[in-house]
Amino acid sequence: MDPLDRLGRPLHDLRISVTDRCNFRCVYCMPKEVFGKDFQFLPRAEILTFEEIERLVRIFAALGVKKIRLTGGEPLVRRDLERLVERLALLGDLDLTLTTNGSLLAQKAEVLASAGLRRVTVSLDSLDDATFKRMNDADFPVAKVLAGIEAAHAAGLAPIKINMVTKRGVNESSILPMARHFKGTGMTLRFIEFMDVGSTNGWRLDDVVPAREIVAMIDSELPLEAVGPSYRGEVAARYRYRDGSGEIGVISSVTQPFCADCTRARLSADGSLYTCLFATAGTDLRAMLRGGATDDEITTAIANVWRVRTDRYSEIRSDQTAGLHKIEMSFIGG
Ligand code: GTP
Ligand code: 5AD
Ligand code: SF4
Ligand code: SF4
Repeated sequence: MDPLDRLGRPLHDLRISVTDRCNFRCVYCMPKEVFGKDFQFLPRAEILTFEEIERLVRIFAALGVKKIRLTGGEPLVRRDLERLVERLALLGDLDLTLTTNGSLLAQKAEVLASAGLRRVTVSLDSLDDATFKRMNDADFPVAKVLAGIEAAHAAGLAPIKINMVTKRGVNESSILPMARHFKGTGMTLRFIEFMDVGSTNGWRLDDVVPAREIVAMIDSELPLEAVGPSYRGEVAARYRYRDGSGEIGVISSVTQPFCADCTRARLSADGSLYTCLFATAGTDLRAMLRGGATDDEITTAIANVWRVRTDRYSEIRSDQTAGLHKIEMSFIGG
């Protein structure tokens, strides 16, 4: 049967959180006041095994999913992740990618590329060690992330994208240095508006640096022009440098939401399906996997959830939605 008949609208992009753990404590994602030493991460038995993830990816692929993004937490802290990549790479023509904070990339890039990973997106919020530390609370220098990016480049994990979350008063001063650094490298730097994902990052509208302000700031020194999307539903709006030396993107989920074209689903580390980044509840696929459900039954469960999906959180963000108890991004998968 045509997947669309089962789904009603396309489901192109599945983001899979392979662990809820991370070796960073970004202010916008896992603030250390909440995710401290005593924070209870998921016990191992609750996390999907690679076999279980592979089975679900087969099912999602049959429903039309074309892109698989491994996320977390930090995906590279999941032991032997390359074994999962190997399994998924054998499933056919999937755009297989991963979002990482880059800290373990220098040692992992080659083995991931050999396993069949196609490309990576690396989060980097500043080139300045002190600012980086304020944003990410990481215990090592920016140079280590840059070495990871280099290793990914050398391993052919292209095109490389760099994600920079911007928070007012914390790393605004890093916008231009980051743009200058990545211009002409063939890598695409994307600026992400600080979002109210989860319920613990203390989000305030005043902390958001609107994408149009970022574009104007860069354009005044390094002239830009807008480019259309490279595929339907692309979350980043693209701009290219007028001198032909590459492009940047802005992800303006707060000031210019893009829910109407949303074709993304998320699978948490413990196997729940979420139809929105800002969801408050998911559908437990792990119970089906471990309870003996057939592929057909799981397919029907997924299709039933997706078919009636009406999510458009970013478009309806308001005082009413502020009180919702949303799932944390480190759990649901960025
Ligand atoms: P490409 O395939 O490289 O184009 O990736 P992408 O832009 O789809 O993915 P990426 O994971 O790099 O997304 C960048 C950031 O955009 C994420 O980390 C989120 O912060 C944000 N984002 C992605 N998808 C959504 C979404 O569905 N809703 C909202 N509100 N934000 C999203
Ligand atoms: N707002 C915007 N982006 C976020 N990310 C994590 N939390 C937030 C947030 N609150 C992004 C990170 C990374 C990806 C995993 O998600 O920058 O690129
Ligand atoms: Fe870790 Fe990524 Fe969350 Fe930062 S955004 S705390 S690197 S999972
Ligand atoms: Fe999709 Fe939800 Fe993001 Fe809107 S807020 S684009 S519905 S994931």
